[in-house]
Amino acid sequence: MKNIAVFTSGGDAPGMNACVRGVVRASVNHGLRVFGVKRGYEGMIEGDIQEMNARSVSNIIQSGGTILISARSERFLTKKGRNKAVENLKRFGIEGVVAIGGDGTFHGAEKMVKESDIAVVGCPGTIDNDLYGTDFTIGYDTAINTALGAIDRIRDTASSMDRLFLVEVMGRHAGFIALEVAIAGGAEGVLLPEIKGDTEAVYNVLLTGMEKGKGTNIIVVAEGDQLGGANALAAELKKRFGIKSWVTVLGHIQRGGSPTARDRILGSKLGVAAVEALMEDANGIMVGEVNGNIVHTSFRDTYRKKKKLDKKELSLVDILSS
Ligand code: F6P
Repeated sequence: MKNIAVFTSGGDAPGMNACVRGVVRASVNHGLRVFGVKRGYEGMIEGDIQEMNARSVSNIIQSGGTILISARSERFLTKKGRNKAVENLKRFGIEGVVAIGGDGTFHGAEKMVKESDIAVVGCPGTIDNDLYGTDFTIGYDTAINTALGAIDRIRDTASSMDRLFLVEVMGRHAGFIALEVAIAGGAEGVLLPEIKGDTEAVYNVLLTGMEKGKGTNIIVVAEGDQLGGANALAAELKKRFGIKSWVTVLGHIQRGGSPTARDRILGSKLGVAAVEALMEDANGIMVGEVNGNIVHTSFRDTYRKKKKLDKKELSLVDILSS
């Protein structure tokens, strides 16, 4: 393998830049030529590909987002789009690609592996932490710390006015962000996509809290929870129990900001590991970190096998908010 490319795809995540830097610097160290593809699969289809060197990734380790720009590509879902992308990679003599992204990115990469002789190795880049084959995804640690900073501020105003706040966090169909933010933020309750939501249970938490002298309540709601998010819960609480609440949807704030040390280190390690995997002829796999070791997991398993929420963490929310 002499020429490789790197791209970022899907929702950007803090630490993606550290990962790109790891890929580029490892390539340079191993004497490979390395190319950057802009705007994920979209740029691949359009041939937006440029050679990079060690200096192309100077001073980016501390910045959020991705210097390569990211995109969600409809065109790559078609065979025609994928053929064009492969054709463009070949024009640059690219034999291997590092794909930094989440499950959507790996679905696409899996197809490319099947349909071409270009090797693809993935790095888990998503704030959602929902990929099997790695304890943590790049961006997750920063996202939960960002959400936590917001919740701490909300607690200041909530406790000053004895109010109920419903704080909605991201995570798509996974509750990792919500659960850990709820524990670290001292939330009174949490609603997750993985567990059937129940407005009455939330009401009971509030009642019990009141009996124990609590005036302030913060409920963390995952955007993908089964009741339909924080606004839906607020409407139900009002309609069924006459309870007024204040809703804060944290949204894309969770995707931005300077990556934490953990995300910089994880991104760097996995970027280097991905290049080394390509050099060892790995293909169709994601590199991840499990119990401190670098492991390879097939693209298919990263999204088909489900990384489980730690149910013990869920009971912690109840115990700690008593
Ligand atoms: O997958 C990362 C993520 O931020 C999810 O948590 C969220 O549901 C989604 O992306 C939002 O996507 P977009 O930025 O395309 O609206």
